[in-house]
Parts: sequence; C-alpha cells; structure tokens
Amino acid sequence: MQGLAPSSKLSLTIVVVVLLLGMAGAAHGLTRVVASSPDEPCMNMTLYYHNILYNGNNTANAAAAAATKPTALATTYWKNSTFFGTLIVFNDPVTVGKALPLTGEEPAARAQGFYFYDKRESLTSWFGFSIVFNSTAHKGTLNLVGADLMGDATRDFSVVGGTGDFFMARGVATIRTDAIEGLYYFRQQMDIKLYECYVWL
Ligand SMILES: *[C@@H]1O[C@H](CO)[C@@H](O)[C@H](O)[C@H]1NC(C)=O
Ligand SMILES: *[C@@H]1O[C@H](CO)[C@@H](O)[C@H](O)[C@H]1NC(C)=O
Ligand SMILES: *[C@@H]1O[C@H](CO)[C@@H](O)[C@H](O)[C@H]1NC(C)=O
Ligand SMILES: *[C@@H]1O[C@H](CO)[C@@H](O)[C@H](O)[C@H]1NC(C)=O
Repeated sequence: MQGLAPSSKLSLTIVVVVLLLGMAGAAHGLTRVVASSPDEPCMNMTLYYHNILYNGNNTANAAAAAATKPTALATTYWKNSTFFGTLIVFNDPVTVGKALPLTGEEPAARAQGFYFYDKRESLTSWFGFSIVFNSTAHKGTLNLVGADLMGDATRDFSVVGGTGDFFMARGVATIRTDAIEGLYYFRQQMDIKLYECYVWL
C-alpha cells in the first residue's frame, strides 16, 4: 500500500485534533480514533473465508449457491468458463485459523452476501457482504465491498462500515486466495485493517 500524501496526513491530524478538542468537554462516551499511518491501523485481524459452493449433492455442507443461470453471453461467444453474469449467494463460515469448523461448532463469524462474475475475457468478480460476528469474542458486523481481480496475488476490499463492536468502523481488507479445491471450494485469507474506529472512553 502506498503512503498517504502529506496533505492527507495533515488533514487526518487535523481531524484527530479537532475531535480531541471536541471531546474535551465530554467526560466519557464514544471517541473516534483515526489512524495516522497505513501501517498503524486502530484494529487489525486475520480471518479465513471458506466458500463452500453447492455442487449438486453436498446439501448438508453447502453454504453458497449460484442464484442465476449463466447468461446467454457466457454460453455463446465467451464460452471459456468466465461465468459472466453468474451471481452466487453465500452464508459461509469465517474462521480465525485455516481449518473449517468441526461439525456442530459455530464458526468465529459468517460471511453473508453475494459475488458475481463480471468480466467476459477472464475470471473476475465483485463482492458485497457482511461479516457477521455472534460469539463471545465479538458481536456485530463489518460490511465489505470490492472488486476481486482474481489474477492479482492480493486484492483490496473496502470496509465501508460496521455495527456493534465495530460501530461505524472503516478500513481495508486485503484478500489472498489461500486454497482452491476443484470448482466448489476456495478459501480466502482476509487481512482486515481498520483505520477508523470508535471506542468507548
Ligand atoms: C496486527 O498488527 C500488529 C502490528 O502491526 C501485528 O504485529 C499483528 O501480527 C497484527 N495482527 C493480525 C492478526 O494481523
Ligand atoms: C455427487 O456424488 C456422487 C456420488 O458420491 C459423485 O460420484 C459425484 O461426482 C458427485 N457430484 C459432484 C458434482 O461432486
Ligand atoms: C475467450 O474466448 C474468446 C472468444 O472466443 C477469446 O477471444 C478469448 O481470448 C478467450 N479468453 C481466454 C482467456 O481464453
Ligand atoms: C447469537 O448467539 C446467541 C447466543 O448463542 C443466540 O441465541 C442467537 O440466536 C445468535 N444469533 C444469530 C443471529 O445467530
């Protein structure tokens, strides 16, 4: 990631100072914390997203399924498996380690949302989803959107907001494909860094 330009660094500093001045009168409450450098997020975590796609007979495990048929464009001229226009809806497990949760065990969080394939010539997709936390460690959501340029080693999604423990959070999630098993399973590592956090003082 590139460093912020000096002018934006300055404006971030000003924002923090103005906020601190604004907070000076309040004895307690929510305080907005803004990172002063891309290397110093106000919160970070690494999570694994397991996409377990319905393959026709894994009804017990599948947590994602195609919600559209391939478009006519994808089945006529652009026939090379780029799935243009196919939309996948998912409610997939998200874990702290790489392993899938054991049967009956609740994952650290769930990723709920969709992705669709959006390029004729090659495989790329676009994601919009919430990471829903409902564990003793975290309760709340982080909401992510972004282009998954699958040819790149890492891709960045925007964390556009959050709720609960992640009230009003914003940041960047760097995505890396960690495993692909056939057509119906892939695992992505998500390095989530929040640059704007609200904390109770
Ligand atoms: C969070 O950031 C700290 C400091 O950069 C780093 O040491 C730690 O490994 C990071 N944790 C995760 C889970 O990424
Ligand atoms: C469904 O299960 C059958 C029997 O186990 C197997 O032969 C077939 O390959 C499976 N289909 C898919 C799409 O995995
Ligand atoms: C996909 O098919 C189109 C049309 O035949 C072709 O022009 C294009 O190069 C192919 N792309 C790949 C990645 O094979
Ligand atoms: C969240 O966890 C609580 C306690 O385990 C449970 O009662 C509740 O149904 C869960 N909510 C969701 C949306 O899963």
